[in-house]
Amino acid sequence: MFFGMKRFYLTTAIDYANGAPHIGHAYEKVLSDVMARYRRARGDEVHFLTGLDEHGQKVQKSAIANGVAPQTFCDQMAEKYKKLCEDLEISNDDYIRTTEERHKKVVRQLLQKLFDEGEIYLDEYTGFYSQRAEQFLQEKDRVDGEWPADFGEVVEITEQNYFFKLKKYQPWLIQFLEDNPDFIVPSFRQKQVMEFLKEDLNDLSISRPKERLEWGIPLPFDVNYVTYVWFDALINYISAVGFGEDGFEEFWPVDYHVIGKDILVPAHAIYWLIMLKACDIPLPKHILVHGFWTSSGAKVSKSVGNVINPLDYVKDFGKDSFRYFVTREMKVGQDAEFSHERFLSRYSGELANDLGNLLSRVLNMVGRYTDGVIPAPAGADELDKQLVKEFETAAKQAVANFDDLEFSVGLESVMDFVKSINKYAETRAPWKLAKSESAEDQDLLKTTLAHMAEALRLVSPLLNPVIPSSIGKLQEHLGVPVELRNEQILNRPVWEFKLTGLPVGEKVILFPRPEKS
Ligand code: ME8
Ligand code: MG
Repeated sequence: MFFGMKRFYLTTAIDYANGAPHIGHAYEKVLSDVMARYRRARGDEVHFLTGLDEHGQKVQKSAIANGVAPQTFCDQMAEKYKKLCEDLEISNDDYIRTTEERHKKVVRQLLQKLFDEGEIYLDEYTGFYSQRAEQFLQEKDRVDGEWPADFGEVVEITEQNYFFKLKKYQPWLIQFLEDNPDFIVPSFRQKQVMEFLKEDLNDLSISRPKERLEWGIPLPFDVNYVTYVWFDALINYISAVGFGEDGFEEFWPVDYHVIGKDILVPAHAIYWLIMLKACDIPLPKHILVHGFWTSSGAKVSKSVGNVINPLDYVKDFGKDSFRYFVTREMKVGQDAEFSHERFLSRYSGELANDLGNLLSRVLNMVGRYTDGVIPAPAGADELDKQLVKEFETAAKQAVANFDDLEFSVGLESVMDFVKSINKYAETRAPWKLAKSESAEDQDLLKTTLAHMAEALRLVSPLLNPVIPSSIGKLQEHLGVPVELRNEQILNRPVWEFKLTGLPVGEKVILFPRPEKS
């Protein structure tokens, strides 16, 4: 029994090891990382898992095409995917690979249990198989009598296979989703699952004959077969946190599975939920489903080949700029277009100009006008009070949005406030006040610098989950004491001029002009 504090457990899909990482993989990791960092700032003990899906036909095929053994191929791909995590500063606590023994052992254990309980049976099956989708298709998958091109080559095969009794759980699953209308986020995705469940489910073939596929986990009760890759892959979510061992309840049930829209139905919403139910394991709390990045309107994918390499943008503009762009641009749940022009416009407008220049201005003016020390305010008139109010509104709004996983909207209100700080500065024009000899103007100058510095200090934790390394720099150069950097501002922002009397650091350019654009 576990009596400690339950972690906030968060997972991404595990990426297929058959091709190079693209923006879809990068996005999903950034989105989950923003969630993880935000929850940590809210005081949760977070456990954040990502990983690699290494078995199956596609991986076997790619390995052969590359002239290496599947395991060697997977080891090479794992390096690439782990590097992607590093390059994007993803704060995952663990990385699971489905070829690890800790994973395979749990897969075998669950297969054996379901087999012993009669939930898995042997049967003969004739059907249409898509290698690209790694699944048997159904008549309803046809469009105008044809298999859609998305499925690649489709061939009719007859074979003996082991089947998992999916169908008998259909009424239970429908009831579960009806009882938990907020289970899938956003809710229109749950409606799509309900729609799918109006048709009868078939039992699921969970084996592949060894002669057709070798690269998989052998069935513990029949060595002539390996495990169907989805049945294997989904189990990563529990194998990684020690299913069957003490302490599992510290993590499970998972708070959010973060996945893309193409793997909700049937993989996560049908197979996974029924697998858990059949094994008597508690269900996840939520599934968060994001949309697809497109390029010129087409789905970005390995099979189509119109791949935008996210690492190019990370290299040219910095990881935070990429993190910012994808978080700001994509409304969680919807599709978004990755455009170079839009990237540039957000980079130079919102990051370089609104945020980066604001910090530079504050550092410059404090350096020149108040000997490098942030002054105490000498009062507050309407304009100052309005800035404070705008901050409070924006912070409240952003926290509410972040809590609802609407990061794009929350970020918008934070960045609108950053614009307000700039407007405040334009109106006050401290650079003019500095030229005046009058005591009144000198007071107003101090008041202005104090407000700008405090506004930046207070806004920084709200941006930290999205652009952590830039905010680290901002706080350091602004002279924010370490103990104030991750203040529980997200719970209760207080405008207290905590930087008064503290020295600022060196000048810094947070978002430099890119060398090429
Ligand atoms: O599906 N935009 O792996 P995967 C946004 N191994 N997200 C995208 C995307 C795009 N253009 N293309 C892909 C798999 N994704 C399985 C998962 S989980 C137990 C097994 C997302 O490498 C996709 O929706 O094809 C998925 O969530 C993730 O990237 C990995 O895709
Ligand atoms: Mg895919």
